[in-house]
Amino acid sequence: MDFEFSEEHEAVRRTAREFAQRSVAPIAAEIDKQARFPKELVEELGELGFMGIEVEPEYGGSGFDPIAYVIAMEEICAVCASTGVIMSVNNSLVCDPLRKWASEEQKQRWLEPLATGEKLGCFMLSEPEAGSDAAAQKTVAEPKGEGFVINGVKNWITNGPQADTGILMCMTDKAKGHRGISAFIIDMNGEGVSRGPKDDKLGIRASHSCQIFFTDHYVGPERLIGEVGQGFKVAMSTLDCGRIGIAAQALGIARGAFEAAARYATERKTFGKAIADHQAISFMLADMAMEIDAARLLTYRAAALKAAGKRHSTESAMCKLMASEVANKVAKNGVQIFGGNGYVSEYPAERFYRDAKITEIYEGTSETQRVVIASNLIRALG
Ligand code: CAA
Repeated sequence: MDFEFSEEHEAVRRTAREFAQRSVAPIAAEIDKQARFPKELVEELGELGFMGIEVEPEYGGSGFDPIAYVIAMEEICAVCASTGVIMSVNNSLVCDPLRKWASEEQKQRWLEPLATGEKLGCFMLSEPEAGSDAAAQKTVAEPKGEGFVINGVKNWITNGPQADTGILMCMTDKAKGHRGISAFIIDMNGEGVSRGPKDDKLGIRASHSCQIFFTDHYVGPERLIGEVGQGFKVAMSTLDCGRIGIAAQALGIARGAFEAAARYATERKTFGKAIADHQAISFMLADMAMEIDAARLLTYRAAALKAAGKRHSTESAMCKLMASEVANKVAKNGVQIFGGNGYVSEYPAERFYRDAKITEIYEGTSETQRVVIASNLIRALG
């Protein structure tokens, strides 16, 4: 076991940290307040190679490993979780399944523009009545000629308002349940694809989500990812990777909240001394630092398993569950340390607090992660 980072990891950390300080920090509060999608930051992420971090260079990506991805996500989310999730959806939920499941022709056509940041991707699994119960898909793709005609609605689609390309899961054979779900590549500007208004959210307000409507949208057979009926596996294996990204996002939020609170605690004085010198606050800071580190180690472990090509469903669920719960606790205590100043938008504590909540919900709620962990562990007992 080796806790050292490679030269490449350190370089990724430096690049991500410099980008976060130079370009993201000056506008993070403003884009949150105005719920403005940071197009200029997404362009810069593309130039830095961060929109296709693990994508092989032959398809326009950076060819880094999953640890590098975790490092970049943490650094960026420590400053702005909205910017981080725009990047993470493109990387984990769109580029990753294309790398793993798409044909050579599909990779040539769809992967490269996503990996370079020229185009933006979204992942369409959730529906009004299929969130945690992802197999309960109502969107259908019915055979027509050589292809399929798609009808239905997708919900809470992160990057939906801006996306050029989407990965869609829907039913091709209702009678087969989850084995009747198939995955398709969607041109989001195609005929019969439309978008609802952007959701008005509690947190990550600069990252936009919306409903996507399919009305007699035709796709040819060349849009099918994998085989007919493999869509649920495509989705689940994609989420195994996506959950590492959300764990890294949660780590970033927790670290940002912790650093802001720790700095404030050394400056703010009560009863004649810095509040950091009161045991109530210093113990809180100690717990925050320890829990962030524990979550970080679980996240690196899942990323290392992915890098080694091993199955990591349980470890991904564990790191996502732990990091998201730590982020919420740390951000809550961050507000507490800031006191009244934690409750107003002049300081970043309340933004971290609002942003943390979604990490316990998307890419599988905390309850879903517990289901995944428990069922995998029980199955392993035989
Ligand atoms: N990898 C590959 N295959 C998998 C798998 C995995 N990780 N997990 C399950 N499968 C396969 C199983 O092997 C099984 O296949 P067979 O029947 O062929 O053997 C099949 O999938 C069904 O497995 P389950 O019986 O375990 O499935 P289930 O219907 O009980 O669902 C669940 C389990 C874990 C609750 C799942 O539905 C789930 O993860 N739900 C949460 C969905 C989710 O995370 N949604 C997030 C939306 S995306 C998002 O949030 C994006 C964003 O905005 C940022």
